[in-house]
Amino acid sequence: MTQKNNDNRIINPTESNGDLALDQTLRPKTLAEYIGQENIKENLRIFMQAAKGRSEPIEHVLLYGAPGLGKTTLAHVIANEMAVNCRVTSGPAIEKAGDLAAILTNLSAGDILFIDEIHRLNKTIEEVLYPAMEDYALDIIIGKGPSARTLRLDLPRFTIIGATTKISLLSGPLRDRFGSTYRLDFYQAEDISKIIKRSAGILNIELDSGACEQIAARARRTPRVANRLLKRVRDYAQVKADGQITADISLRALQMLAVDELGLDDVDRKIISAILEKFNGGPAGLNSIAAATGEEMATIEDVYEPYLLQIGFIERTPRGRMVTDLGKKHLGVQGKEKQKLLL
Ligand SMILES: Nc1ncnc2c1ncn2[C@@H]1O[C@H](COP(=O)(O)OP(=O)(O)OP(=O)(O)O)[C@@H](O)[C@H]1O
Ligand SMILES: [Mg+2]
Repeated sequence: MTQKNNDNRIINPTESNGDLALDQTLRPKTLAEYIGQENIKENLRIFMQAAKGRSEPIEHVLLYGAPGLGKTTLAHVIANEMAVNCRVTSGPAIEKAGDLAAILTNLSAGDILFIDEIHRLNKTIEEVLYPAMEDYALDIIIGKGPSARTLRLDLPRFTIIGATTKISLLSGPLRDRFGSTYRLDFYQAEDISKIIKRSAGILNIELDSGACEQIAARARRTPRVANRLLKRVRDYAQVKADGQITADISLRALQMLAVDELGLDDVDRKIISAILEKFNGGPAGLNSIAAATGEEMATIEDVYEPYLLQIGFIERTPRGRMVTDLGKKHLGVQGKEKQKLLL
């Protein structure tokens, strides 16, 4: 995803370079360690146990949901629980049919092939994937023109786990070839608190329950944001308060990061106020909002909007985005508080 100045934004749920090392240490390895998403875990447990009982690989799995909710993590957890290899690739990385053929012919029986951003696979490659997913076969075209013929290569039984933040961009035929599809939801507040406590334990951070609540409230119900906030609060506490993280310290750290009590930052507020002020509350089209805020359309759609929709601050209608009463109230209250401070 292209993002100009958004990589450093604290509440951006998409992966940034700074997250990589942290993600590796904090990533749960087993289903038992994977917090929340109980429904999906329950389904997966049964489904994996049944496949193991038959000594078969599991069916292809499609995972979708907003960035940072744990799709990549879950794909690795499945591979780990099934005790199989996990090869990783992504939609945009497979440029030619030959690239896919090379990956598929290198798989061993039972292997998992994780295809991230699967909605970005191009059409011709999708077509190579269909028989591979359905019949474990690869149709290769040899030669050109009238003498061209297809050669069918058998592949080992393998499993594809596809991940996407945009299920609507996936073609029907591709979607149909997955044995099961799971939608990852935004996390419950208790689950985000558990994730923060678990991460604090792994990183040896001392955090009291008040501080944990403060961070959880601002984590946009997203594990990646929770971990990132925790890290920034730890840095603040280390420099300003001997490393002890109390509710008061975390509040000061979070205020410095300009993330409000619901996890909104200045761009979220800019989006809401642009719709309110320039479009009279909406409906406003995505491109108009982008023009009014100076943010890219893709950034608004992928990074900011999912959470604003989730907490009911904006609504998507066929004619565009609208700010809800709840959204108005939140911004109004903040506006009044600011005015009070200025008086
Ligand atoms: N259920 C969970 N329990 C504990 N930690 C989690 C959970 N889900 C995700 N995390 C943490 O959040 C981080 C981000 O998760 P992950 O990279 O799997 O998200 P993603 O859905 O693949 O995001 P993207 O769409 O950007 O690829 C992980 O490194 C992990 O530490
Ligand atoms: Mg991912």
